[in-house]
Amino acid sequence: MSFIYPLVRRFFFSLDAEKAHLLGLKAIKLLHSAKLSRIVFGQPIASPKTVMGLTFPNAVGLAAGLDKNGDYIDALSAVGFGFVEIGTVTPRAQPGNPQPRLFRIPEAQAIVNRMGFNNKGVEHLVKQVKKAQSDTIIGINIGKNIDTPVESAADDYKVCLQKVYTLADYITINISSPNTPGLRTLQFGDELKHLLDVLKTEQKILSESTQKYVPLAVKIAPDMDDNDVKLIAELLLEKDIDAVIATNTTVSRSAVEGLENAEEQGGLSGVPVFQQSTHVVRVLSEHLNGNIPIIAAGGIFSAQDAKDKIAAGADLVQIYTGFIYQGHELIRECAEALKS
Ligand SMILES: Cc1cc2nc3c(=O)[nH]c(=O)nc-3n(C[C@H](O)[C@H](O)[C@H](O)COP(=O)(O)O)c2cc1C
Repeated sequence: MSFIYPLVRRFFFSLDAEKAHLLGLKAIKLLHSAKLSRIVFGQPIASPKTVMGLTFPNAVGLAAGLDKNGDYIDALSAVGFGFVEIGTVTPRAQPGNPQPRLFRIPEAQAIVNRMGFNNKGVEHLVKQVKKAQSDTIIGINIGKNIDTPVESAADDYKVCLQKVYTLADYITINISSPNTPGLRTLQFGDELKHLLDVLKTEQKILSESTQKYVPLAVKIAPDMDDNDVKLIAELLLEKDIDAVIATNTTVSRSAVEGLENAEEQGGLSGVPVFQQSTHVVRVLSEHLNGNIPIIAAGGIFSAQDAKDKIAAGADLVQIYTGFIYQGHELIRECAEALKS
C-alpha cells in the first residue's frame, strides 16, 4: 500500500491545511465504520511495552492535537498507534484563533500551527471517551482556557483532571503550547511548583476515592536551555511526576528561514524540530536517570528517527507531523523498529 499515500497526500495537500486534517480524520473514521481499517492499514504491530505501569500495545503513539475532542479514538487506534493522546482539552469550549491558523512548509516537511486550543470543552470529550470501544491506551491532554488568567491556571487544570480522571489511562499536563499567551511561564520555578503541587494533591485524593491511580505526565517545550531542562527534571523528580513528554512545537524558525509560511506565528513541528527535541530528551535523560519515563515527540519521520529518540533516553515515542506527511506506514515502520 506504500504507493498509495503519496497520491492521497497530493490530494490532501491541494486543500487548505485545516480542512485537509478534518477530512483525513473523517475518512479514517469512515473506513473504521465500514470495517475496512484492517484491510487498508493492516494488523497493528504488537510489541507490548510497560511504561508508567501501563502496558502499551506498541511504543508508537499519536501526539496530542490531532484529535482534540476525542471524536476519533477508535478509528485512530485502528490505524496502528499503540496509544492515542487526545486534547488539549480545556474546561470550557473555545473557538481557538481565527483561521487560517495551520500552515504547511512542504520543503522542510514541517507545519506551523497557531490553533490556540480550539476544542469543544471537557464535558464533550468525556462523553466521547465513554463511547469509545477500542481498548487502546488513551492519554488525555489538559490545558487552560485562554481567558483564564495564568495566575488561576491551576484551577482549570484541576477541573479537567477531576472530570477526566477515571476515563484516562494517563493525563498530560500541557504547559508548553506557544499559542496560549503566558502558558509557557508555567514551566518555570514557583509557577511550576505550585501547579504540580495542586495536581499531585488532587491526584492523591482522586486515587484514594476511586481506587485507581492515573499517572500524570508533563509536556514541555523544546525552546529551553539545558539548565532550564535540568531545573524542570529536578522538580519532576521532587514532585514524583509519572512521565514527561518532550517536546511540543518550537517557536524557533532558524531551520526554515526564507521558506513560504515560515514567518507565520505559532509553533513549528516536523523535521526542523527533530534535533532540538531529541536534545531535550537527552538532557532530561541525564538528569532523570531512568527514574521518570520519557515520551519523545518531535520530527519523527522514519524508523531511524524513532530509534534515535529511544537511544537518547525515551521509553515511548509520539508522532503528529510525520503521520500527516508519510501516512500510516510510518507508524508500522517505527513500531516494527522499536520491537524489543
Ligand atoms: C496542528 C497541530 C496541533 C497541535 N496541538 C497540540 C495540542 O493541542 N496539545 C499539545 O500538547 N500538542 C499539540 N501539538 C504538538 C504535537 O503534539 C507534538 O508535540 C509536536 O507537533 C511535535 O511532534 P511532531 O513533529 O511529530 O509533530 C500540535 C501539533 C500540531 C502540528
